[in-house]
Amino acid sequence: MQHDKILILDFGSQLTQLIARRVREAQVYCEVHPCDVGSDWVREFAADGRLKGVILSGSHASTYEVDDRAPDAVFELGLPVLGICYGMQTMALQLGGKVEGSPSREFGYAEVRAHGHTQLLKDIQDFATPEGHGMLKVWMSHGDKVTELPPGFRLMASTASCPIAGMADEARRFYGVQFHPEVTHTPQGAALLARFVLQICGARPDWVMGNYVDEAVARIRAQVGDQEVLLGLSGGVDSSVAAALIHRAIGDRLTCVFVDHGLLRLNEGDMVMEMIAGKLHARVIRVDASELFLDRLAGVSDPEHKRKTIGNLFVDVFKAEAAKLRAAGGGHEGIRFLAQGTIYPDVIESGGGKGKKAVTIKSHHNVGGLPEQLGLELLEPLRDLFKDEVRELGLALGLPREMVYRHPFPGPGLGVRILGEVKREYADLLRRADAIFIEELRNTVDPATGKSWYELTSQAFTVFLPVKSVGVMGDGRTYDHVVALRAVQTTDFMTADWAELPYALLKRVSSRIINEVRGINRVTYDVSSKPPATIEWE
Ligand code: XMP
Repeated sequence: MQHDKILILDFGSQLTQLIARRVREAQVYCEVHPCDVGSDWVREFAADGRLKGVILSGSHASTYEVDDRAPDAVFELGLPVLGICYGMQTMALQLGGKVEGSPSREFGYAEVRAHGHTQLLKDIQDFATPEGHGMLKVWMSHGDKVTELPPGFRLMASTASCPIAGMADEARRFYGVQFHPEVTHTPQGAALLARFVLQICGARPDWVMGNYVDEAVARIRAQVGDQEVLLGLSGGVDSSVAAALIHRAIGDRLTCVFVDHGLLRLNEGDMVMEMIAGKLHARVIRVDASELFLDRLAGVSDPEHKRKTIGNLFVDVFKAEAAKLRAAGGGHEGIRFLAQGTIYPDVIESGGGKGKKAVTIKSHHNVGGLPEQLGLELLEPLRDLFKDEVRELGLALGLPREMVYRHPFPGPGLGVRILGEVKREYADLLRRADAIFIEELRNTVDPATGKSWYELTSQAFTVFLPVKSVGVMGDGRTYDHVVALRAVQTTDFMTADWAELPYALLKRVSSRIINEVRGINRVTYDVSSKPPATIEWE
């Protein structure tokens, strides 16, 4: 891989991944690493000449609470450095400036005045004051602030409450901003970050998914050689794109196993088969294990118990299929690799510093440990990519847009959307109600944005409630099931707002579900945000 690269050192802010996404959107390759990697590591990382600049992230902590500092090498390589929030403060401290704690936190919208026509902010502004000062609308979140510039620096930006909101040493190409350019609430943030990586660092904008296909294919071929690969297809975006990519690289030496646990959405199994086997002509074995899963789930109502039951059984079924394949021979005894759709957010250690991970890495798709149990090596062709990039790659590989932009779906499927005990009858009702909800979301266009409500929501689904309610239909009384509709808007799924769907849309969905799905007589809408609620109900 010959791409220029930007190093992002993570001091533990929740927003670090957004910095990386903005840099990637500027088509520049970047990697996120913990802030305490050390100077030797940084020099080693820069040794091949591809490193063009460094960004220091924000932190959840204050420079007084923690002693995380950037490795000295960062300031000694002769490369541009951009410090964001805590990153600017540690830069100021390390280079001889001063930072002071502040009794009040500044949080939210602010207007920043640009000073001194620096390369970083030149011609980037939201509006100008009558006196002609360039102004930026930004998002701030900090307590401490820089109170004295380090030698060599001059003022780049200020607000009334934060007199040093930006600083620059243009000779050394060191910049600091107190606000957060990585969030969308800072409208010029993406332009600022693009200016830094493209013009100031001079990184080549060659990180383009259409071109990445060839590179990824070559890499898979080099890793796999003439061996065979096994892949667990879930129907989700990541495993489907991984399948398409690996199939492009090694054709029939990829075998996909698609375990249908009976908890998928309406017609989902057929759609997956149509796409991967039908369109791509990849080798797929579909295992209908729904009886097995539903039998094993009988009487289980605790959410975590259900998750474990589904996860463990999935592993057992997958292992049995792998063993069958290898026993059957026909080349399959040569299976050496297990492919997984791990993506970059699963890989990045978050939390600021190797020693103090704040968030444990998600065990991917609930099948952690499978490669060891099967004695297979891992193949993770998407591990450098963010979700948006996986989607673009999927399009470049010819997968249908509708599939590639689908909302996420949890590994345990409808198992965690049927509250309490899971029964086939409930799953069948839920599938039909959910299909109506999704169809209406897809078909209803918001006139203000021209987008469908499916596109305007990040995740939407129907939940089956384990209660019955009284209703009236025609002349008769009904005593039937209740479902809840859930639709949220979020960028990171860590926090989420319930979506303000138009009443007319909710009305249509409700009336269609009650009229078309016999057995459901009441529809409710979930108006809880995360936190304190979670997105799923279990
Ligand atoms: P919560 O409910 O925790 O969900 O707010 C956040 C995101 O994670 C998904 N989710 C899961 N995905 N296995 C998965 O693969 C699971 O057990 C699981 N539980 C929640 C959820 O759909 C949402 O996108």
